[in-house]
Amino acid sequence: MNVAIIGTGYVGLTTGACLAFLGHEVTCVDVAEEKIAALERGEIPIYEPHLAELIAGARANLQFTTDYAQAIPEAQVVFIAVGTPSSGTGAPNLQYLESAARAVGQHLGRHYTVIVNKSTVPIGSGNWVGSLVRDAVGDRPDRRFSVASNPEFLREGTAIYDTLYADRVVIGTDEEHAAEVLYTLYRPLLEQTFQPPPYLPRPEDLAAVPLISTDLASAELIKYSANAFLALKISFINEIGCVAEKVGADITQVAKGIGLDTRIGNRFLQAGIGWGGSCFGKDTAALVSTASEYGLDMPIVKAAREINRRQRERIVEKLLHELKILKGRSIGLLGLAFKPNTDDLREAPAIEIARKLLERGARVRVHDPVAMARFQREHPDLAVTACESATAVARDADALVLVTEWSEYLELDWETLASTMRSAIVLDGRNALDRPRLARAGFRYLSLA
Ligand code: UGA
Repeated sequence: MNVAIIGTGYVGLTTGACLAFLGHEVTCVDVAEEKIAALERGEIPIYEPHLAELIAGARANLQFTTDYAQAIPEAQVVFIAVGTPSSGTGAPNLQYLESAARAVGQHLGRHYTVIVNKSTVPIGSGNWVGSLVRDAVGDRPDRRFSVASNPEFLREGTAIYDTLYADRVVIGTDEEHAAEVLYTLYRPLLEQTFQPPPYLPRPEDLAAVPLISTDLASAELIKYSANAFLALKISFINEIGCVAEKVGADITQVAKGIGLDTRIGNRFLQAGIGWGGSCFGKDTAALVSTASEYGLDMPIVKAAREINRRQRERIVEKLLHELKILKGRSIGLLGLAFKPNTDDLREAPAIEIARKLLERGARVRVHDPVAMARFQREHPDLAVTACESATAVARDADALVLVTEWSEYLELDWETLASTMRSAIVLDGRNALDRPRLARAGFRYLSLA
């Protein structure tokens, strides 16, 4: 099928690359000229494992352009995957969605087109996009279209795997024909008939991917509910972690003990600093904001947000309690990205923790295996020392904080690190380090739970 994707961020680029890999003719559109020029040169603007290989392998089916006129008129399916950043009020900023919808309407071809909201948009946006496109189409009855919602469930760092071997595909539309078109588009993925890429073999037990076909509003609500539930799972284990700390229980064992109950499940029960990233914070805020438009309070979701906020403060409180005075102390942060295997710094806990430590007069040294360049570009105002390695972060430090559990940090030569620090203290913000090993290396080990 002929597909256009608007927006070449994590979601748009991954979706485009995967659909091209599955054999569709894909044109990716972005207004950012330098991004499109880089993609045409074969450079990938984000760090995402296997994305470069996938794009290189599917290059014959992929085009990149800044020109809507080159992408939309031929497309049978148009995905809108533009950013919907937080506006600060809780509701997302929809200006990019609005201009994309208008541009799509202006360029629709003389055939039936399915326009798909792939961005995480507020409930009701399907109808809104439909009305914007209709206005832009104006008096041209041969431009037929319908709007569908096809929410994204990929995680950064495992985006390709999550897309090709999805737990489910959700298609929400009020028009049967649109559902049929999207079914045809996703068929190779739903039936798992494609040849897996050599670097991402198909999980052995995956025979087919379930399709959930719903109305528009239900698909939109599925997206928000999924992210809110995952966020509150994390906040729940972090709240239990506070109790575990008081009573002397081991939160990792507690998580294992409850997670083996299949009704609960063991994923997203990793206690620690809590969630960051562009999704959970923004989407829980948007859900609360949408509910409030209908006079509904969402105490559970609000509490999950509050607990997440507190976890970051607890890092600073722990250091303060341990070191007594933070002024003039040197604190090393291991990891800047909001999670391993990405260079994304949006709502990364490390940034907020660094800021809080600086406010208290500490000196902050930072390192990340892949996000350093991006960090220096995006946060030139943050008066921290950027170090070229974890070893450099530890030199003369009063304490180290593991903020992002990159695998290379788990394998550090802790004995050597301890010998170069002013005081060998480590605060394991992700409950990811080998506690006995650190003790043997001479560290005083602290954690949030
Ligand atoms: C999340 C969802 O997992 C995806 O399904 C969804 O598609 C995506 O948001 C989105 O809406 O676009 P993502 O934010 O990329 O994906 O990453 P996650 O793996 O969900 O991690 C989010 C945060 O939670 C990270 O900061 C991670 O460190 C933290 N986390 C995760 C925990 O603190 N504990 C856990 O047990 C799991």
